Amino acid sequence: MEFKEIVEKRYAVKKFDKKVIPENKIEELLEIIRLSASSFGLQPYKIKIVDDQETKEKLLPASWNQPQINTCSHLMVFCANINVKEQIEKYEEMMESAGIPLENIKAYTGVMKGFEEGLSDDKKLSWATKQTYLAVGNAINGATSLGFDSCPMEGFSPEEYSKILDLPENTHPVTVVTLGYAADEPRPKIRYSKKDLFF
Ligand SMILES: Cc1cc2nc3c(=O)[nH]c(=O)nc-3n(C[C@H](O)[C@H](O)[C@H](O)COP(=O)(O)O)c2cc1C
Repeated sequence: MEFKEIVEKRYAVKKFDKKVIPENKIEELLEIIRLSASSFGLQPYKIKIVDDQETKEKLLPASWNQPQINTCSHLMVFCANINVKEQIEKYEEMMESAGIPLENIKAYTGVMKGFEEGLSDDKKLSWATKQTYLAVGNAINGATSLGFDSCPMEGFSPEEYSKILDLPENTHPVTVVTLGYAADEPRPKIRYSKKDLFF
């Protein structure tokens, strides 16, 4: 499918038909998400995957009782990871493994470390949150490209999700992406005109 066709076809599903997405398709989607662009390439997020019905039912009241939650096949909780220092250390190791010259690694990590040191925890959260949305974009368009459907969702309680899923410290839920096969029909696309958006 051409990318234009994917973005035309994708829509926010309100209800899924409970059919389970094959695991190999989920693996393909994870790879699409893994390849997302991010500032410095640091990917400051963790993504919790939920596929068991019992947990989905527990999350339902914490998600404004939206039916996508307990009718989907899988749901992904995109969490901002504010442990940026650890991400930089890992990135440094990955650059070494990729055979990047030491002086280049030093120069690049120097910039990243300077950036990280200048950020309060609140700023780290805001910066990491922005990065998660690029991964969410890949997830929802990626799902369409692989033949299933999705809904990105902010209508949930991050505090409740943290408790129910026992999320690690420094990991803040930002967006949920529910995945499955649609049991509803796409609505007309309401979008601002090019004139409204571009100047
Ligand atoms: C970050 C984000 C959060 C959203 N949260 C919800 C949500 O909680 N529930 C829902 O039904 N749709 C949610 N949506 C879907 C939007 O309402 C939808 O994308 C928009 O109306 C455009 O429609 P379309 O995606 O079907 O083209 C969300 C979309 C985004 C990008």
